[in-house]
Amino acid sequence: MGGLQWKRRVRGMLTLLFVSVCLTMLISHLLWPSITDLTEVEKCPACYGTSFCPAITGGFLTLHSFGAFAGFVNILGSKNVLFGMLGNQKVVLKKLGHTVELEQLDKMICKGAGLSSSCHVHEAIWQQGDLLHSMRQHVASQDSSLLLCPSVANLECLLSSVLYKTKGTSTEASLANIWTTLMINPEPLLLQVLQEQDGWPVTKYMGACGRVVVEEYAGEILTSYHNAPWLQRVHLAHQLLIAAHNFTDSHPLFGFYLTDISADNIAVDAQGKLRFVDLENVIVVDKNVPNEDRPQSWTIPHVSETFDCEGCFAFSSEDICSHRMSDHNFYAVCQHLLSPLAALDMIPGGLLHDMPPAHARVSELVQKCSESTEPSGRLRAAQDLTELLAEVLQQHGYSSMQPKSPSCSLWDGCLEA
Ligand SMILES: Nc1ncnc2c1ncn2[C@@H]1O[C@H](COP(=O)(O)OP(=O)(O)OP(=O)(O)O)[C@@H](O)[C@H]1O
Ligand SMILES: *[C@@H]1O[C@H](CO)[C@@H](O)[C@H](O)[C@H]1NC(C)=O
Ligand SMILES: [Mg+2]
Repeated sequence: MGGLQWKRRVRGMLTLLFVSVCLTMLISHLLWPSITDLTEVEKCPACYGTSFCPAITGGFLTLHSFGAFAGFVNILGSKNVLFGMLGNQKVVLKKLGHTVELEQLDKMICKGAGLSSSCHVHEAIWQQGDLLHSMRQHVASQDSSLLLCPSVANLECLLSSVLYKTKGTSTEASLANIWTTLMINPEPLLLQVLQEQDGWPVTKYMGACGRVVVEEYAGEILTSYHNAPWLQRVHLAHQLLIAAHNFTDSHPLFGFYLTDISADNIAVDAQGKLRFVDLENVIVVDKNVPNEDRPQSWTIPHVSETFDCEGCFAFSSEDICSHRMSDHNFYAVCQHLLSPLAALDMIPGGLLHDMPPAHARVSELVQKCSESTEPSGRLRAAQDLTELLAEVLQQHGYSSMQPKSPSCSLWDGCLEA
């Protein structure tokens, strides 16, 4: 009797164990698919590239969950962003689109080749006609996440750092890769145009394998710094203003206006360096557009309107596109990240909340930069604020946590000193 019951209990426990092991495996398979499944490399050249495939097939890249549970959440939310390690370096893997968007792209490729929607995209990609022409059409459209305006004449010039830069891939395959990337999400292309290595405040692009791109992990998102000490937040605000200036002014030929500036699209690394990590939605203004394509308002700086809806980040791409220069990036940074009007759900009170009374001038300039409607009012306020924040940091002897060169790391002017 006792023996039988004992046996039954053991069997019950074994069954339970078996079921839970299976469940764990199923769940972890759903959550952590193998990297090879993830890449869909068989779709190439209807993919983002192959430069990173050797590292993946060599087993140098492993999937991990760091960054505060983010990996987990992102797959569950089907954002298709995963975290991994390359040796001891933290990296981010992106499929660049939701699963539905990727399926839609495949259907579009099949349709473009006049085939049924279950066709082989690696073959159908060769039957899309003139890919460069198709890309031009795409970036001219308001629905494209990369909008090039007021004319698309200089698209090849914009993409010159990726076009025809063939490393082991044929020019045609590389063009197919660029086309595929552009159709889904221009981020990796922009990360190669505005390279982190050249000082652009963006995450470093590392390469692609199939339908996955790999970027450097740029740290925790800005929302995690919402309650950091005030001076540290001043340092972040200063970097945000410099970034807004860089995207607007630092490229000799194009102005880059980020239309999804939000605290969860910006990361800060352990050294306190801030980088933009989501470059999906961008308006690129061609500063040297041919005379005949210039709108009347071209030479007047564009002033972003504050739309009458609480906390919403609205803008008019048509307006941004009809001026050689816009204050859009400063508007986004000042109003939607720094000021008390910033997104309530992410950074209530704005990044510079709980301003020490001694720094009333900072408050004043933040508000001007956020709300000014005068011509160039916002631009002037942004410039003054950038300088003032640099002064505040200097006065307090604030240096970033860069361990090796504490006295000379961050301020402009530091190099002259
Ligand atoms: N290079 C990176 N370094 C650190 N974290 C990153 C990086 N890229 C993405 N992340 C994290 O993953 C999240 C999602 O990435 P990303 O913004 O590129 O995807 P998304 O699908 O565009 O998300 P959403 O549409 O919600 O903005 C980011 O909010 C950030 O937390
Ligand atoms: C960004 O702007 C700062 C300040 O003007 C400048 O020193 C830096 O070189 C710019 N970065 C790039 C990539 O141009
Ligand atoms: Mg994002």
